[in-house]
Amino acid sequence: MPKATFQFPKNFLWGTATSSHQVEGQNTNNSWSQWENEADRILENQKAGKACDWWAGRWKEDFDRAQESGQNAHRLSIEWSRVQPARDRWDENALDYYREMIRGLVNRGITPMVTLHHFSDPIWLMEQGGWENDDTPILFEKYVYKVVQALKEYVNLWVTINEPNIYTYFGYLEGTFPPGKKSPKSAYIVMRNLLRGHTAAYHCIHRAQIESRVGIAHHIQVFKPARTWSPLDKWITNLHARNFNLSFADTLINGKFRFLFKSEKIKEAINTQDFFGLNYYSTSLVRFSALAFSEFLGKHSFPPDTEISPSNFIANVPEGLFTALKWAQRSGLPILVTENGIEDASDDLRRRYLVEHLNQLWRAYSFHNTPIIGYFHWSLLDNFEWERGWSQRFGLWGLNVDTQQRIRRPSVDLYAEICRTNALDSDIVLKFALQSFKKLFPG
Ligand code: BGC
Repeated sequence: MPKATFQFPKNFLWGTATSSHQVEGQNTNNSWSQWENEADRILENQKAGKACDWWAGRWKEDFDRAQESGQNAHRLSIEWSRVQPARDRWDENALDYYREMIRGLVNRGITPMVTLHHFSDPIWLMEQGGWENDDTPILFEKYVYKVVQALKEYVNLWVTINEPNIYTYFGYLEGTFPPGKKSPKSAYIVMRNLLRGHTAAYHCIHRAQIESRVGIAHHIQVFKPARTWSPLDKWITNLHARNFNLSFADTLINGKFRFLFKSEKIKEAINTQDFFGLNYYSTSLVRFSALAFSEFLGKHSFPPDTEISPSNFIANVPEGLFTALKWAQRSGLPILVTENGIEDASDDLRRRYLVEHLNQLWRAYSFHNTPIIGYFHWSLLDNFEWERGWSQRFGLWGLNVDTQQRIRRPSVDLYAEICRTNALDSDIVLKFALQSFKKLFPG
């Protein structure tokens, strides 16, 4: 049996990621709680409810779990609607509670990374048009200022906005996220205002905290033409990649905002990230179809011969992470994998997915000098999966939603070994993900 150890860089951040609405519970004042109260918006009309019960204090036991399993970082988000329950009201108690939570991480030797916007918006903000309203970037900046003042004693790693492309596509083009619109015109305005909000937040954080490092969690999906010989497939693939992956990310590099059928210069967005936050889950093939209007003329499928997650949501394509990393490297910035993971209650596929993706991360770092500084697995424990409700299980730890019992999956120990040793070792792969062994260590 060949033996090898893939060593990661010194001071590497090894963590997991979560988001407020998905884990806190008792969120009743945001766009998602409202969405959950409408019929048929969420699979089987499920609700986040108590979620993982963090707002009632269970974050303590879950942070213990993260600490005991060798994680040295955690990415979590702040719920705008808790901090600012009404346009003219701030809730200092909520801010104090977030301080306590984040101090809880620091006291456990876990570096906090704070996301300021992760899909959910206050109801009052949505009532005045949400991110379609040109005032929202300024209101966001005010909220960010408040949070940064409250937390800067403990936090210097910030994500302003999680996945602006997913937020825009799902909320304003496909209609599966609130507010359920299908309007390219609205989508363009929303994306532009998210850019403006990010830019304002970036400068505001730096003014409040010189040593801060600020970025975006970009969702990058790797697209490939379904038929490599087909010029139409290539054309539609490039179009999808440009709109979905590049429109937001490239504006931060060159100030040229191009999305759907419009473009404009947003010069102030240039150089407003200190690291490139990358969320990578999967790769898809795109095939041109003149009839697929609702899919923007591109039919998506998973590459053949790939393992697919139980609800057909994610294909295990680790090479896609390598491609996404190489692409992120164009920014010239340090790269943080801010999310990567798979839904798999049986925890069988997850272990293969995890080691194979980390192998690609290591490959990019050691052979291509990709400046990778950390990896956050999605997620620490099962949590509320948006319009898919509780049907998908992304956690290293499982969760029984009714009893709040946590279930230790084998991936907990696999990931713990990796975090503790700062390496992916052949013995560990042999023990936890035998089927991936030959692929990673061909001998
Ligand atoms: C989102 C997470 C979500 C995960 C899995 C990401 O796009 O940032 O909130 O839970 O995907 O669906």
